[in-house]
Amino acid sequence: MKEEIKQRLDVAKRVAIEAGIFAKKLRDTNSFTISEKSKNDFVTTADKETEMLIYSNLKKTFPKDGFLGEESDEIEGNGRWVVDPIDGTTNYFRNLSNWAVSIAYEIEIGNPIIGVIYSPVSNDIYYAIRGYGAYKNDEKIEVSSISDFKYSINVCVPPHRYKKSYLKYMQKYNLIGQSCSDIRSYGSCALELCYIAEGSLDGYYEMFLGYYDFAAGKIILEEAGGRFVYENADIQEKFNIIASNKNLFNWYDENIIKDNFDEKL
Ligand code: IPD
Ligand code: CA
Ligand code: CA
Repeated sequence: MKEEIKQRLDVAKRVAIEAGIFAKKLRDTNSFTISEKSKNDFVTTADKETEMLIYSNLKKTFPKDGFLGEESDEIEGNGRWVVDPIDGTTNYFRNLSNWAVSIAYEIEIGNPIIGVIYSPVSNDIYYAIRGYGAYKNDEKIEVSSISDFKYSINVCVPPHRYKKSYLKYMQKYNLIGQSCSDIRSYGSCALELCYIAEGSLDGYYEMFLGYYDFAAGKIILEEAGGRFVYENADIQEKFNIIASNKNLFNWYDENIIKDNFDEKL
């Protein structure tokens, strides 16, 4: 492995843990306020402070790198870090446990080569480098081997911020629900992708996500042997995603992707 990539992974892991501990302390001491960015899209002062901490720490070691964070304007540079400081903000401020710091690094836009996701409440860290497998707390992880869709457990998240598309989504939700064993939704795209990567869940369909929601999860899932596709949604900078273990991808391809996945809902 190139020394430079390994160094970036090590720094990203250290920064993600530091940021997660920082955000958790703000959570545990109730040291944040909440505001609504747009309908049903919330942000806390902890999201912004955590993103600033991540940005300043990465900049210390890699001053020429670009930076795309959920809570700030993009900074151009050589390659870029893609950061969601708190993925699962609603869980965070409602004191539910599924939220995480998500950090990816990419040279070619849209194709991350490093992903790190740290869950401060469970103290689990997931990470991957392109071509070197995916890990949880230094143990290699792999997607499930379930191949019959009827035994699968899938993440389905109706478009809670785009209710005009709700009914259309629910038709697909109905098809997935009728065909699989069960459906889950944990409120953090980053962690849900890790749960598929470690084989606890099997598939995932959501609309209107930001790139920072899934950049790190994409590489972790792919390195664990899973499949991930995303398409532009009809809202600028929003994407529809499908993720699954490798065996179930055909089901998603036949039933969701070929059937208007990238069409405007
Ligand atoms: C959200 C989470 C959630 C998903 C939302 C995302 P945020 O990210 O990933 O699981 O359903 O669409 O926006 O806003 O908590 O960073
Ligand atoms: Ca997010
Ligand atoms: Ca966020």
